[in-house]
Amino acid sequence: MCGIFGYVGKQNNAAQIVFEGLKLLEYRGYDSWGIATKVKSQPFDFAQGGKSKVKTTKEKNGFVVERRVGKIGDRTLSSKVLANSHLAVGHTRWATHGGVSVANAHPHLDCRKQIAVVHNGIIENFQELRKDLIKKGHKFRSQTDTEVVPHLIEENYNAALVKEKSFTSAVRQAFNKLKGLNAIVVAYSPSSKIVAAKTGSPLVVGIGDGELFVASDAPGILKHTRKALFLEDNQMVILGKDIKLISLPKGKEVKPKFQILDWKFNQVEKGGFAHFLLKEIYEQPAVLENIALYYDDSVGKLAALIDKAFGTFMLGCGTASYAALAGTYLFSRIAKKHVNFSIGSEFKYLEDYLTPRSLLIAISQSGETIDVVEPVEAAKKKGCKIAAILNVLGSTLYRQSDYKILLGAGPEKAVVGTKSFIAMIAVLLLCACTLAKMKKKGKLLLKESAKGVRLILREDFVNKIKRLAEDLKKQKHIYVLGRGLSYATALEATLKLKETSCIHAEGFAGGELKHGVIALIENGTPCIIIAPNDETYNDIISNAQEVKVRGAFIIGIGPKDNPVFDRFLPTSDIKDATIIPQVVVAQLLAYYLALARGIADPDKPRNLAKSVTVK
Ligand code: AGP
Repeated sequence: MCGIFGYVGKQNNAAQIVFEGLKLLEYRGYDSWGIATKVKSQPFDFAQGGKSKVKTTKEKNGFVVERRVGKIGDRTLSSKVLANSHLAVGHTRWATHGGVSVANAHPHLDCRKQIAVVHNGIIENFQELRKDLIKKGHKFRSQTDTEVVPHLIEENYNAALVKEKSFTSAVRQAFNKLKGLNAIVVAYSPSSKIVAAKTGSPLVVGIGDGELFVASDAPGILKHTRKALFLEDNQMVILGKDIKLISLPKGKEVKPKFQILDWKFNQVEKGGFAHFLLKEIYEQPAVLENIALYYDDSVGKLAALIDKAFGTFMLGCGTASYAALAGTYLFSRIAKKHVNFSIGSEFKYLEDYLTPRSLLIAISQSGETIDVVEPVEAAKKKGCKIAAILNVLGSTLYRQSDYKILLGAGPEKAVVGTKSFIAMIAVLLLCACTLAKMKKKGKLLLKESAKGVRLILREDFVNKIKRLAEDLKKQKHIYVLGRGLSYATALEATLKLKETSCIHAEGFAGGELKHGVIALIENGTPCIIIAPNDETYNDIISNAQEVKVRGAFIIGIGPKDNPVFDRFLPTSDIKDATIIPQVVVAQLLAYYLALARGIADPDKPRNLAKSVTVK
């Protein structure tokens, strides 16, 4: 789940360009970062076909590498690396193999430091490759799986030289030997080309005027261009005078399919907010109105697919799984339709009942979550129809699915998902209303939700949440209770609290309280009660009373106050859509709890990354 970035082109500040690119990709992993630039590179001469005029005396023409542990944050690059270069590759890491150290930070080089590799993914057979390369005399400097790649290429290239084969084919052969889901970007100091290849992990190429960019995902290249090429699995691209796309393993040339990204660069900037998390929370009313106004057709088609299908299954991970769970309740209560739900990583143990008449609705912000991508691939093999609700154009899930609804929430940079969840709920609610022939009602509920969220974002209300955060900041545990649809609300609220403020929080169905969880309640234990004005209200209030008598501190979130609440955070009553303002209250509480607990960067919670591309 790392961020990789590469640049080759007319500008001679390649290292700075890559550095800025990594900053934009840092939500993909922030354990360490590194950049390699090609020293003494000549300006990229498109006319000369990329051949650099520098005499390639091996050692001297290697790479200058800067690697650091920790986040880039507001660091700057050391001047040495900044040396004028037209080619550079970089990486921001989410550690999987090998601890967090400078030695394990990317880029990794071959023995002669002429091949620099950055990698995203897991090389499942790296142990045996490493053993074999060590036998052949290669010296390893790290414990990573990645480092086998530059040594493999070096090994192949030596062999290739004998047979006059190109550096590119040496990279191709090396990549073909890797097992697992991987994306690599490779630079070779004597050459002025970058070679990149992928299977499973995302890669996008950005086409600029006289310059080329390669990155793990679109926000990385938006600053420079909106013309993009999303690599398919088993593809390799050579970036030099022009772009050459080949298929793997054989190396057959493929005609590139370029796309124009519909995101603008300012969308990937903080826009005056302290953190992307807060910015994205404040973007939610516009996201809701956009869906209410423009999603009739797309949601109508999804409703028709569900109507026709013989069994519909929704799946997602983390926040997306809670949207899918909420969808199950919305389809049941609004459309009287049974739509199943499963956590993505568990679905592969459940999908034996899928048939070609089944519909799989995969929900994902990034479209790259491996625990969604893999079960979708398996379901496709069973002939299932795949519909996707996602936020990223050109992502793996986008290309896997037969029918796709883009959430239109704009780039989501904070690791903690907020506007993507609200958009997922809006699409599912509108779809359920459409299935029940009440589309108008659905659109009205979304417009009301946008108003309801704006009320919550008012300063006086936010100050109320800030005060509660101050009162809760020392708590070790927080419990969140909800019933029915609000069980999904409780789980999402809990996840926000956990991943943003790092407080142990647990969400559960109110009815489960007396079956065990109540044993955890003691004097002062904060319990958040999700209490919409619906059929669950009386029962969830009884649950609140049951924990109150054991000393719990009760926080009520909903349209109707109650004497059992020690603190009440009112929301609008928007019937089936009340989940939306309730979750926004929980998002804000999580954010201000993080600040109150001195968490420096709520955008990048410890140990997490924005899209989980490894199993
Ligand atoms: C949510 O705040 C988390 N970032 C995480 O649980 C996320 O929802 C999960 O990894 C799924 O990501 P996706 O929506 O991109 O598939």
